Order: sequence, then structure tokens, then C-alpha cells
Amino acid sequence: MGRVYVAGSINMDVVATADRHPKVGETVAGRQVLYFPGGKGANQAVAASRLGARTTLIGCLGTDSFGAELRAFLGDQGVDLGYVRETAAAHTGTAIITVANADNTIVVIPGANALLGADDVGIVPMVKGDVAVSQFEIPLPAISAFFRRARGTSATTLLNPAPAQAVGRDLLALVDLLVLNETELGVLAGIEISDGHDPARILDAARRLQTGLDQTICVTLGKRGALALAGPEELVVPGRAVQAVDTTGAGDCFVGALAAQLAEGATLRAALAFANAAASICVQRMGAGPSMPTAAEVAAVLNAS
Ligand code: RIB
Repeated sequence: MGRVYVAGSINMDVVATADRHPKVGETVAGRQVLYFPGGKGANQAVAASRLGARTTLIGCLGTDSFGAELRAFLGDQGVDLGYVRETAAAHTGTAIITVANADNTIVVIPGANALLGADDVGIVPMVKGDVAVSQFEIPLPAISAFFRRARGTSATTLLNPAPAQAVGRDLLALVDLLVLNETELGVLAGIEISDGHDPARILDAARRLQTGLDQTICVTLGKRGALALAGPEELVVPGRAVQAVDTTGAGDCFVGALAAQLAEGATLRAALAFANAAASICVQRMGAGPSMPTAAEVAAVLNAS
């Protein structure tokens, strides 16, 4: 069984809940302010670890109280933090999140995450069978260095290009499995994709991005499930009807679960179905890191359907 290595962001999420989102220039009364461990990298690592994978996180924290709290939380989830360093040069990454009607808006201030460099990821001891995961909340040169190292050891590389930004084909060519939502697909493929587009158009955009037939592209569609292009093969993962309370971290849950399954040797089809079920549990809970499910919870959902 392989290990999951996540090079990524670690944030404290400061969450305001309200009955509706304010319009630009408007003030609305909120209901609660909550503090949740978050950050796309940390969320993905927590998901993989809670789902049974041996998981190592590579990241950077500030020497402040948020950093100390996040380190304690991640350690409690069984995540190996041997490659998480601390810096006094920046504050711990922080996300300001508004949640209303289960939808969110997020402003991320990277802080220490922006100081993660190629040196931090270049010493990670990966081997064949491991899965190397990253996202776009750390600098691109660190991601490239991490994936080049993974490729050098024959580990599988998984990129979640979130938050979306246009990138060169050279980074995408280092990726075995690209997992992204419709918005991110639109940005990376350079085309307009709106919610509700038909599967043929989504798969067509994915085909444009694919750098080779050995690359898999998985497009998550929220409550409509997911589509994947595995080489030339198209896979459809049906959506699951649940009552969402907070979708923050659902994409991270999907990515972490997929990585855990692939490290365990599952087929892509089985891993996608598992990740979809895991994300459907995550959206029924408030917060990002703490809402990641356990393997037993996902098994119960899969057995019930
Ligand atoms: O994907 C959700 C995450 O995005 C939040 O936890 C927040 O920290 C931002 O990074």
C-alpha cells in the first residue's frame, strides 16, 4: 500500500454564517463566527488520513497561535507533519469565508503558504506506489519541483488546480491525474463553461487539456457527480442527493479520498465512486478539515446504495 504525500496550503478558516450573502457594498447581519482548520492542502491530507492512508503533509506555518492550533489538529488526525516547517517571516495562512444557504465565498490570504519553496519539497522520500498531491495555494515552482521529484520515483502525481489560474503545458505534462471543477476547467482550457453544461461539452474541454493518453482528467460536478476522461475512456459517476449545509472543502475531500484509494491500489472507477460518496458526507457538515469522513462512514453510504 502506498503513502499519500500532499504538498499544499494550511489555513485557519474564519467563517461567518448568514441568511444570505451581502451584495457588493452591502452589510448584512451574520449569525455566527466559527474557526475551522482548513487550507486545500491540509484538507486533502486530513481526508486521506481519516480514510486510512498513511499521509504526509509538506507545508509552511507561521509561529502564531493559528499555526499552533493547526499543527495540533493535523497531528490528531494522524497526518505526518515531519515536513511542515514554521517561519517567523509571515503569519499562518488565513481564509475569510462567508457561508449562506450552503454556498460559500472565500478570500484566502496565503501568508506562510507563499513561502513554501522547491527546497521544501525536494527532499521528500517518495517511492513507486505513492501518490503525490498538490493544488494552487502554494507557489507554482514548488509544485513543479514536487511533481518532478515524484516522477523521478515513479510515484503517481495528482493536481487539483484550485483556485484556478492559467498555467503552461509544462506543468500539466507532469500530472498523471488532474482533478478540477467546471470553473477551473474553463480557466485552464480557456473556454466559457457554465454550471449545467452538457457532459459532451465538458468532456470535449477536458480532451483539449489532456497532455497525453496516459493522463486522466476528472471533472467534479458538485451534486451532479463527476465525469472522467481516462486516456480515451469516458467514465460517469452519478451524483448523490443529500441535504448540503456547507460545501467548503468538498472538492478537497474528493481529492484526498481519490488519492487514498489510489495509494491503496483501487481501480480508477472504484476510487471515483468512493471519492464521490466521501464528498457527499462532507457537504452535510459545517467546516472544511473537521468535516472529512472516515472509511467506515463512506463504506456505510456505499453499502446503503
Ligand atoms: O477548499 C476549501 C479551502 O479553501 C478552505 O478550507 C480555505 O482555507 C481555502 O483554502
